[in-house]
Parts: sequence; C-alpha cells; structure tokens
Amino acid sequence: MSNQFDVIVIGGGPGGYIAAIRAAQLGKSVACVEKWKNPNGETVLGGTCLNVGCIPSKALLASSETFEHTAHHLAEHGISVNGEVQLDLAKMLARKDGIVSKMTKGIEFLLRKNKVTWLKGHAQFTARNSAGNYQIEVIGEGAAQTITGQHIIIATGSKARHLPNIPIDNRIIADNEGALSFDSVPKKLAVIGAGVIGLELGSVWRRLGAQVTVLEAAPSFLAAADDGVAKEAWKQLTKQGLAIHLGVKIGDVKTTQQGVSIAYTDKEGAAHTLAADRLIVSVGRVPNTDGLGLEKIGLAVNERGMIEVDEQCRTQLPNVYAIGDVVRGPMLAHKAEDEGVMVAEVIDGQKPHIDYNCVPWVIYTAPEIAWVGKTEQQLKQEGRAYKAGQFPFAANGRALGMAKAEGFIKMLADAKTDEILGVHIVSSAASDLIAEAVAAMEFKAASEDIGRICHPHPSLSEVMREAALAVEKRALNM
Ligand code: FAD
Ligand code: NAI
Repeated sequence: MSNQFDVIVIGGGPGGYIAAIRAAQLGKSVACVEKWKNPNGETVLGGTCLNVGCIPSKALLASSETFEHTAHHLAEHGISVNGEVQLDLAKMLARKDGIVSKMTKGIEFLLRKNKVTWLKGHAQFTARNSAGNYQIEVIGEGAAQTITGQHIIIATGSKARHLPNIPIDNRIIADNEGALSFDSVPKKLAVIGAGVIGLELGSVWRRLGAQVTVLEAAPSFLAAADDGVAKEAWKQLTKQGLAIHLGVKIGDVKTTQQGVSIAYTDKEGAAHTLAADRLIVSVGRVPNTDGLGLEKIGLAVNERGMIEVDEQCRTQLPNVYAIGDVVRGPMLAHKAEDEGVMVAEVIDGQKPHIDYNCVPWVIYTAPEIAWVGKTEQQLKQEGRAYKAGQFPFAANGRALGMAKAEGFIKMLADAKTDEILGVHIVSSAASDLIAEAVAAMEFKAASEDIGRICHPHPSLSEVMREAALAVEKRALNM
C-alpha cells in the first residue's frame, strides 16, 4: 500500500465516509482513518450516527412505539389482544444492535467498493512537509504508520457534553451511549436536558413503562422550534406522560442504593430532590479535537473547541478542511454528509454550495416534529413581512384512517413575493413530509406552487398542499 494519498479523511462517521466516497468517485486516491470500537472490541465505521446516535435511537423509537401501540392503541381499530403484551427488552436491544452491525458493515463494503483505504486507528497530525503535504500518524493495533496527504478532511465529530460533578458510568447515570442500552426498564427515569436526545430517548423509555421526569434549564420549551410547534409538541408529549420541568437549576447529583438522587431548584427557586433508578444526561455535545495534533500544523480551535471554517468548510490552512459536528452549524448527520460531498467537490475544483437555511430538522418523537427555514419568531425579529397558512391533520382523511390525526403543518411565505420562508410540522411521518418543503425551498418555490401541485389522495401530503393554500386563505377542506 502506498502511504501517499490525494485525500486523507479523519473520521468515518456520516461526514467522513461520505466525503471519502465522493472524493473516490471523483478519481482521487483516498484514505479514511477511523478508530471507533464497538462493544465487541471491533473497529467499526459509521461514527456516532450509526453506532450510538441516529440509527440505534430510531430502531428503539420504532420498537417502543410498536410496543405502546400494541399495548394501548389497538382497541380503537377494533382489535383486542388476548392477554398481556409482553416486552422482551434483551431481544429489542439485540434487534437494534443487529441493525447497527448491518449498517456499519455496509459502510465497510462501500469503502471497499469505492477503493477507499480504511486505516483502523487514531489519526494525529505530525507535520507539514516541504512540499506542503500533511503527515499523519495512525496509531492502531500494530505499529504506528505515517501517511501523507495533499488534502485533509477533518471529520472527527462530537461526543456528549458531561456536567461537572456528574460522573457518567453508562449504567445508572448515562449519556446517549448508556441510554441506548439500559439492561432493564427503569421504574423512574430522570433526564437532564429537554433537547432532542432527552425527548427522543425519554419517549423510548416512557413507552416501555418508565415514569420519566425531564429537567430543563431553559425557561422555554424547544426554543429553536417555531413557537406554535413547540406549544403543540408540549401539549402532546406531556399528555403522553413525560413530566417536563422548565427553568430548573441542577444541584447535587448523588448515586444512592436505589439509583440516583438529583437535587434541583425549580423556576420559582423552590428546592426539590428527585429520586430515580436511572438518569440520562443529555445537555448537548462537544467537538472531538483532542489528540489530533492540531498544534503540530498550527491549526487553532475556537472557544467552543470547534474548528473554524468558511462557508465551504476550508480551515485557515491550505488544503485542510473540516466538516460535520466538529464545525459550526447544526449537529446533524445529513448536514455532515452534505458538507462531505461539498468538500470533495471543492477539492476536485468544482463550485458546490450548501444553503444552510434549507437544512431540515427532525425530532423523532410521536408525533414527529420537523421544520426547515425560518420560524415565525425569527421572521418577526428580522422585521420581514410574511403570511402564514396552517392546516390540521384532524381534517385529513388519511390521518384519521391511520388514527394519527394530531398536529398540523404551518407554511410561512413572503408577504410580497410569496416565496416559502419556512415550513413547520408536528405530525406522524413529519420526517418524510418535510422533504417536499426542503425541495420547494431549494427551488425558491412560492406557496402558490405547492398549492397548484397535484398531491396523492388520500395522503398525509395533502396537508402540505392545504397549508400552502391556507397562506392565501383558500384551503379547500376547511
Ligand atoms: P461522527 O458521527 O461523530 O463521526 C466522527 C468519527 O470520527 C467517529 O467515528 C470517531 O471515532 C472518529 N474520530 C474522531 N477522532 C478521530 C481520530 N483522531 N482518528 C480517527 N478517528 C477519529 N442526527 C441526525 O441528523 N438525525 C438523527 O436522528 C440523529 N440522532 C441522533 C441521536 C443521538 C442519540 C445522537 C447522540 C446524535 C444524533 N444525531 C442525529 C447527530 C448525528 O449523530 C451527528 O450529527 C453525526 O453523527 C455527525 O457526523 P460526523 O461525521 O461529523 O461525526
Ligand atoms: P440539545 O442541544 O438538543 O439539548 C440540550 C438541552 O439541555 C437544551 O435544551 C439545554 O437548554 C439543556 N441544558 C443544557 N445544560 C443544562 C443543565 N445544566 N441543566 C438542565 N438542562 C440543561 O442536545 P442533546 O439533546 O444532548 O443532543 C445533542 C445533539 O445531537 C442535538 O443538538 C442534535 O444536534 C443531535 N441530535 C439530533 C437528533 C435528531 O436529529 N433527531 C436526535 C438526537 C440528537
């Protein structure tokens, strides 16, 4: 094997492996260095997303939703289950692990197919040589090896942020890794942080039988979402039984014989102690830049530990790029992937572009929450004149048939030009429905365009059309 590459990618998560494949498609010689070890001690590709993020969490969300549905929501369809619905948690977790393993092996296959050299181990910069190429040492199981790359893509991702004085053992007190693998359903589960992980994994364990209390420092719920959507999500999630306390300040957290006790003050300043069997700490993530040897090549990180990049993910150093969770912007797998493609194409001399305003967000609760573009509160703050159209799933025949009639779609359009500025959904299948809005916004469509497009009947997507028509106050079915 040559130790010289056109492109070296550090990190084989969704940012890194996609960048490596795209660069290889464009004819570059590519190495991808990845060190992640799975619980069996095997080095695997896929990063946070495949191993302890998107994929296992969605597997458990689907399994737990099926369990809850079977236990509680079949009667309205006229179906009864004879006897108690049983949970085999070990099997549920094994199913999730099987999906993870299938997917990570799939990436291994894709790298082979595209002739990307996968080097197993930890990568660190050692120097920049006189030709301007970068030397990287890979420390794996055998002897360390040095490889040289003309272009480097740093895609080292992120890890869970931990709180001082709350040691994570991933058994009683867990971050995302432990929370995806609890070996029994806690009777009482506490969650610190009502963000995306808190709501998704809090929902998983609630559906499986835990009494879940979520403690959130911020005074408002889901501040990044449109206010109307956050209000509806709050209504639905608290109705399902998630107890969410806002404006709290976490005090001492102690492990006890029964589990864990969490002292906190509520938004009025009153002191409380919450006793739980287990605790999930989900208070955001921090970029992975430790031990990368950035100082050896003179690349600094900012005060948040992130690598500073321009809009095409160039760092301050020539031919060094950084993408995904290790740089600014939302920590989302599809954003990391798009940046991977963009950087590979920049290296190839092309002129790609990402419109970050068109990166969708999805929270996979039930109902799901999804949005793209601006919220109403952002448009108000910017002083931009807009029109809003909203349509409820309760008036959609398909949603009623599916017994999934909660929620709505809201479309925001420019008051003068009618350009779609934002779309906000709370509903079943919002993660799929939002794709139409993303496509429309990428093409700078007007709300009228969506209103004129034929949508299949009966389908949830008709609500998108009705929300678009509602912008001009001409919804047809309301
Ligand atoms: P990562 O996936 O973190 O990959 C980085 C890789 O780099 C890792 O494998 C790491 O081992 C490797 N690495 C780091 N340093 C080195 C080094 N020095 N040498 C060699 N290798 C190194 N996003 C979504 O869009 N949708 C979701 O549904 C979703 N669900 C999530 C659920 C959970 C519980 C969590 C925690 C995250 C979720 N995310 C989701 C976020 C998503 O996982 C991340 O945004 C995404 O993985 C970022 O991709 P990345 O390639 O930048 O980094
Ligand atoms: P988050 O940023 O979504 O939420 C963290 C929450 O914790 C915030 O509401 C914050 O106010 C709160 N918080 C912070 N410090 C606190 C403290 N001391 N006490 C109480 N509350 C506190 O982060 P989370 O949930 O950890 O997820 C990390 C990231 O992973 C997300 O931002 C997202 O980018 C990604 N992710 C994406 C998913 C998706 O796309 N569906 C699913 C899960 C994670």
